[in-house]
Amino acid sequence: MFNILIFVFLLVFTDSSVSELPTLYEYFTKDGIKTGLSDSHTYFTLNNKNITIFSGALHYFRMPKLYWRDRLKKYRAAGLIAVETYVPWNLHEYQIGRFDFGSEGSDFEEFLNIVDFLTLAKEEDLFVILRPGPFIDSEWDFGGLPSWLLRYEGIKVRTSDSVYIKFVERYFKKLLELIKPLQFTKGGPIIALQIENEYGNTNDHIHPVDINYLEILKRILRKNGIVELLFTSDTPSNGFSGTIPGVLATANFQTQPIKELSLLKKFQPNKPLMVMEYWTGWFDHWTDKHHTRSAEEFGIVLEKILSYNASVNFYMFHGGTNWGFMNGAELNNKSVSEIDNKGFQPIVTTYDYVAPLSEAGDYTDKYFKVKELISTYNTLKIKQPSMPELHRRIKYPQVEIIGELSLEDIINQSFHLNIDNLLSMELLPINNNSGQSHGYIIYRKSNVYIPSNSTLQIEGRVCDTALVLINGILKNKILDSKEDLNNFGFWKMKDSFLHLGQDSYHNVTLDIIVENWGRVNYGFLEQFNQFKGLWQGNVTINKKNVHFNEIIPLQFQKKWIQKLQNWYKPKFGGGPKLYRAIIEIDDPSDTYIDMRDWNKGIIIVNGFVLARYLKLGPQLSSYFPAALMHKGPNEILIFEHFVPAKTIKFVENLIFKDM
Ligand SMILES: *[C@@H]1O[C@H](CO)[C@@H](O)[C@H](O)[C@H]1NC(C)=O
Ligand SMILES: *[C@@H]1O[C@H](CO)[C@@H](O)[C@H](O)[C@H]1NC(C)=O
Ligand SMILES: *[C@@H]1O[C@H](CO)[C@@H](O)[C@H](O)[C@H]1NC(C)=O
Ligand SMILES: *[C@@H]1O[C@H](CO)[C@@H](O)[C@H](O)[C@H]1NC(C)=O
Ligand SMILES: *[C@@H]1O[C@H](CO)[C@@H](O)[C@H](O)[C@H]1NC(C)=O
Ligand SMILES: *[C@@H]1O[C@H](CO)[C@@H](O)[C@H](O)[C@H]1NC(C)=O
Ligand SMILES: *[C@@H]1O[C@H](CO)[C@@H](O)[C@H](O)[C@H]1NC(C)=O
Repeated sequence: MFNILIFVFLLVFTDSSVSELPTLYEYFTKDGIKTGLSDSHTYFTLNNKNITIFSGALHYFRMPKLYWRDRLKKYRAAGLIAVETYVPWNLHEYQIGRFDFGSEGSDFEEFLNIVDFLTLAKEEDLFVILRPGPFIDSEWDFGGLPSWLLRYEGIKVRTSDSVYIKFVERYFKKLLELIKPLQFTKGGPIIALQIENEYGNTNDHIHPVDINYLEILKRILRKNGIVELLFTSDTPSNGFSGTIPGVLATANFQTQPIKELSLLKKFQPNKPLMVMEYWTGWFDHWTDKHHTRSAEEFGIVLEKILSYNASVNFYMFHGGTNWGFMNGAELNNKSVSEIDNKGFQPIVTTYDYVAPLSEAGDYTDKYFKVKELISTYNTLKIKQPSMPELHRRIKYPQVEIIGELSLEDIINQSFHLNIDNLLSMELLPINNNSGQSHGYIIYRKSNVYIPSNSTLQIEGRVCDTALVLINGILKNKILDSKEDLNNFGFWKMKDSFLHLGQDSYHNVTLDIIVENWGRVNYGFLEQFNQFKGLWQGNVTINKKNVHFNEIIPLQFQKKWIQKLQNWYKPKFGGGPKLYRAIIEIDDPSDTYIDMRDWNKGIIIVNGFVLARYLKLGPQLSSYFPAALMHKGPNEILIFEHFVPAKTIKFVENLIFKDM
């Protein structure tokens, strides 16, 4: 009797003691690993045990490596059992045939150690869903495709075109060599992999969908040792043209869960249901209103997904940041007959996404909603860690601008190409013949004579905006309202004119600086003609062609930034210039840089291009994580196009403009 009582007591005690529960990996693998994730029933099994997947997207390249573990702990503490990530080809093969997976010295080196990321995920008791692309959309420049692909005339990206496939094969061979040992059945965390991304969205209802391309990608994955479950993802109500036989179809959506899931079930009655992207919030475009989505609305849809017994991946669970030039863009006209850069909509730097964890890693109402609903619906009893404490975030005191470089000083420290025709940045013979991917490109003509009352014309469209300078003096109107986007110098205008005024100019230097605002990351294949700069037609003055004699790529690469010199005492004034400030930091803490006093440009911290900014919003402050600071003096540079402020201010939070 006594013994039985003790036994019962122990049973109750151990049952209620969280520390005695198995970890996720113990639960699924303690008797050895025989099989991976299987979709051969109407529910998933992993290693022959039932599993419902609660996963969250986290893009390792959108947050500093130092924060990976913290963010992963927060995922696990919410009750998630998996993390999903894309893989950005444009960063990993940053020049043709030159790869960086975390130690090759490219500007993004510190963000690219995918093996470390996957290893950390397992250490934090999470499985991984990997979406290696090669195209990832993701509101990322060119949907993650390297811009150097455009150098191959006639290439058809995202199709079975042999020129394109040859590059995919070479890149996948490198990538999959690293990934292969990290699959679940090899003892790693990866339980499933996606083929391409929303390929059904390329269906323009005119051209046939290139399904053979998906089959080729599948073969490349299998040939390179990928053995885990493969899937595709699309929105069911858009049809299933992006699916292939034998590969699990999954669903992407934000609303109407019952409608979308029943379409998926009808299409695939004998398979498990998975929402690969449940859109928690949304992203923003420059000059458009900031998107929001309430936790209530989010929770109502989530509960419907969970009560439908579907697995779910939150896109995004934590968005992070589109560092520097890495944001993508969209074209607001989705009709194939109307493809034109007129509807170009570049995406802002923050990828906060109104997600459950904010850009800076804060818990939001949505986080607690997820935690509550998973604990209700997940029948798996495993150890769940507690929520990590938040990082401190502070508002540093403002710092003065102490140095300035005029455009001429910047150009004087840049390399020049003697090129006498208008070339797009991608076609420049630089970066080991990989062209220029990001930043600005300057077209220069010296010793020009411009008569009074002259008119300069740019034929076609600018990709994406142009600043015209005569002897370093800006001739465009300053950007200060959304209506200005309808003026000369912006993508919306075709064959646009600029009147150069009553003065005549003798023997002057004419510069046109063109900024690349990010390449389109979504849509029909016809939209992937993404050259940046001036390339659609001639530039004329009074209808006579201007023959430029130099091109100066302004890429803001780290090594170049760190060598900049001859800073002089700031004179401020107008036009494109670089401004420099130093901030002394004793105890690095996350902060936001408040750009409300500035106009348009980019922010560089310690040689790294951190963010774009624009007074028109909606984003007005830029995340500056402690991971990108060091103890002591830190350098902040601002490349301002129009009108500078005299100080750089800080603020604790992400700020959006009311519109
Ligand atoms: C797995 O789930 C299915 C469907 O809910 C159920 O029929 C089956 O009994 C479960 N298997 C185990 C071992 O719990
Ligand atoms: C979800 O699973 C439960 C328990 O197995 C079952 O009673 C219910 O009918 C399922 N719901 C749907 C929509 O399939
Ligand atoms: C988009 O394309 C459609 C169909 O060709 C056209 O009717 C519409 O005017 C276009 N919208 C914009 C904003 O250009
Ligand atoms: C360009 O740099 C050289 C060498 O540093 C210097 O002598 C020259 O004055 C500079 N020119 C301008 C316009 O800044
Ligand atoms: C070109 O590639 C070589 C190695 O192959 C590298 O050392 C060099 O820095 C590269 N040049 C540029 C401009 O990136
Ligand atoms: C134009 O200016 C350059 C120096 O910037 C000078 O060398 C050249 O002689 C000038 N040409 C004329 C025609 O004035
Ligand atoms: C640019 O000008 C040249 C010379 O006049 C002409 O041959 C060419 O067709 C023009 N290009 C475009 C795109 O109009």
